[in-house]
Amino acid sequence: MTDVMILAAGLGTRMRSRRAKVLHEIGGMPLIAHVLRTAFKLTPDAIFTVVGHQAEEVERAVRDEAARLVERGAAQTDLRFVLQTEQRGTGHAVMVAREQLKGRKGPLILLAGDGPMIKAETLRRLAETHKAEGNAATVLSVEMCDPTGYGRIIRDQEGRFSRIVEQKDGSPDELAVREVCVSIYCFEVDALLAALDDLKTDNAQGEYYVTDVPGILLQQSKRVGVFCHDDPEEVPGINTRVELAEVGRKLREAKLRELMLSGVTIVDPASTYIHPDVEIGQDTVIHPQVIIEGESRIGANCTIHSWTRLRNVAIEDDVTIRNSTVIEDSVIRARATVGPFARLRMQAEVGEKAAIGNFVEVKKSKIGKSTKASHLTYLGDATLGDDVNIGAGTVTCNYDGVRKHETIIEDGVRIGSDTMLVAPVRVGRGSKTGAGTVVTKDVPADSLAVGVPAVIKKKLR
Ligand code: UD1
Ligand code: CA
Repeated sequence: MTDVMILAAGLGTRMRSRRAKVLHEIGGMPLIAHVLRTAFKLTPDAIFTVVGHQAEEVERAVRDEAARLVERGAAQTDLRFVLQTEQRGTGHAVMVAREQLKGRKGPLILLAGDGPMIKAETLRRLAETHKAEGNAATVLSVEMCDPTGYGRIIRDQEGRFSRIVEQKDGSPDELAVREVCVSIYCFEVDALLAALDDLKTDNAQGEYYVTDVPGILLQQSKRVGVFCHDDPEEVPGINTRVELAEVGRKLREAKLRELMLSGVTIVDPASTYIHPDVEIGQDTVIHPQVIIEGESRIGANCTIHSWTRLRNVAIEDDVTIRNSTVIEDSVIRARATVGPFARLRMQAEVGEKAAIGNFVEVKKSKIGKSTKASHLTYLGDATLGDDVNIGAGTVTCNYDGVRKHETIIEDGVRIGSDTMLVAPVRVGRGSKTGAGTVVTKDVPADSLAVGVPAVIKKKLR
């Protein structure tokens, strides 16, 4: 019985951007989506997101990510959105959620939308400590080598928590403290709501600080605890594009490490970019400067050569992707080879042992088993059977200026070099076309088509 609240209304002035900070991406996902994922792992009753800057876009990013997670088997959660039209501080962000929070049972975990690296396990331990100690508030703290910019945890002589001081409000002594608040808390909702009434704006930024809430609770003789976490890597808040790149790199390194430990060879981790959701099988080798994005799945024993970009691909086992190939939203069956310099897109499907060679584009087409298109070819809206050979320079002329039309090439066909297949058109099983032929009507099985426009010559068998 836990709720989560994510603060995501700020513009993020230090990003120097017109986009809301939480919409900036690392690992191909907006920052807010990373935080949402972590929140989902706690299976909370509700997730409240406080939105303000680009509220609609941020809400959409949250809903899209939630839908993706549910589609992949996560439990449904009640998504609530709170609109903070004016951003008057992190405390104010919670204040605008007052009505929605009233009457909620159980503790509330409060997170910032700009802290994408926090792990669910850490939040679980925070909540357990909070419960075990019977606290009204528990603040997650971390020791930082360089605490600049973070709120400092100020303790009394006995080492007990007394309050949090912001960078801009601290005295030199206070700023020397290296234990910081990272905008992660667990609150009893009743206590939180009561403390909000006492928040003031008498600070350097003239804002309502949620960091003042634990100190207020202490003054109200409520119990406040600190959960000291030992991993500073998990808690950075992103405020600038420099930090965005740094945290992005850490996320990437963690993914590459996980892949390498599971049996994937990454020749040069420093130049390899693989998004968090990508799955790769054992003994696959990824050469330098490869980018693999989205929800790509790559099988075992594949080789992906340099300068290749793959996005939302399903690649089976023993596939070779040669240099400088771009594949999006497509399927490559076992033992096929693709590239160099090939482009596959829009639900292209390359059959088992098929070969798509250099300067070949395949769009929304199905390529049969052991079929080859080795050089300089466009296959669009086409269905190719098994054991077809496509000569160099072949084009499926699929577009008449208004509509797209289909080309069907049946099993065992040999298409001569530089053939133009003017769709809609079908080339029957076992037929051939001569070099330079322009095929404008269907070719029956076992025939030869030659000329411009093609004349169907004779039965081959
Ligand atoms: C905050 C904390 C600081 C902590 C740091 C950790 C306060 C006052 N300070 O500072 O102690 O060390 O995070 O990263 O809380 N937001 C809103 N509405 C607002 C203001 C902010 O929703 O009116 C959201 C932002 O979108 C952001 C999050 O709250 O996601 C944190 O805001 P930010 O301005 O980045 O706070 P910091 O200055 O980093
Ligand atoms: Ca921040």
